[in-house]
Amino acid sequence: MDDTRGRRTRDGIRIHKPADFEGMRAAGRLAAEILDAVAPMVAPDVTTGALDEAIERMIDEAGATSATIGYKGYRHASCISVNHVVCHGIPGEKRLKDGDILNVDVTVIVDGWHGDTSRMFVAGRPGRKAERLIEATHGALLQGIAAVRPGNTFGDIGHAIQKFAEARRMSVVREFCGHGLGRAFHAPPNVLHYGRAGSGPVLEEGMFFTIEPMVNLGRPETKVLSDDWTAVTRDKSLSAQFEHSVGVTGDGCEIFTLSPAGRFHPTYGLTA
Ligand code: MF3
Ligand code: CO
Ligand code: CO
Repeated sequence: MDDTRGRRTRDGIRIHKPADFEGMRAAGRLAAEILDAVAPMVAPDVTTGALDEAIERMIDEAGATSATIGYKGYRHASCISVNHVVCHGIPGEKRLKDGDILNVDVTVIVDGWHGDTSRMFVAGRPGRKAERLIEATHGALLQGIAAVRPGNTFGDIGHAIQKFAEARRMSVVREFCGHGLGRAFHAPPNVLHYGRAGSGPVLEEGMFFTIEPMVNLGRPETKVLSDDWTAVTRDKSLSAQFEHSVGVTGDGCEIFTLSPAGRFHPTYGLTA
């Protein structure tokens, strides 16, 4: 057991071994495949609860475990966050309408390793602003990932994301962040999606974490509804999010949750 666990840095960040990447690959691939399979199910009149049921079934059929069912009392296999919901939307009886944009966030456990990923989907046709927001949020995630290499810092990641989003006159949510993961679901560090270049812990080969920026069309402030989960924009502006699980390699990073079907691009299904 202990030989699958490497050392930790001064900041409590686990340094994983080369063999651990294989575990993350399997978990990340399943999470991404599940989102690939969700894509064609998203349409007007479908409920978010039906999408969640399909996700739970796919996790079962793969012989894997949902990391979110039972997590801090959460009862679903996904979070589904529609329109001005920033994150942690609870799937239920809500029916999607034409033009709704939604983030579907899935975390699976495969052989003890966590694969955590989310993408945006659109029911029907998105409005122009919604499409711009989705493109910008995906672009911001890619900018953050491009900053992942040994010797850079976590602040470099946040800075790259913030710069990209704010250059498009959009705002980055501060209250929720990415996180270390591996055999744990949420581990150090907090991966901020804003910040100063060169600040924060230095990236080292073998660190595993998520990057999951939430970008709003309006102001950055959020509030959590009385269900204690659903986070929404205070000004009711649209919000988008994408999430990948990544590992730091010798010269950059490996994305564990890339879509095997190449469906990660936000306009998938709009133009295909
Ligand atoms: N998957 C989310 C994340 O990216 C966490 C969801 S926790 C839940 O970290 F309980 F709300 F499902
Ligand atoms: Co996450
Ligand atoms: Co997630």
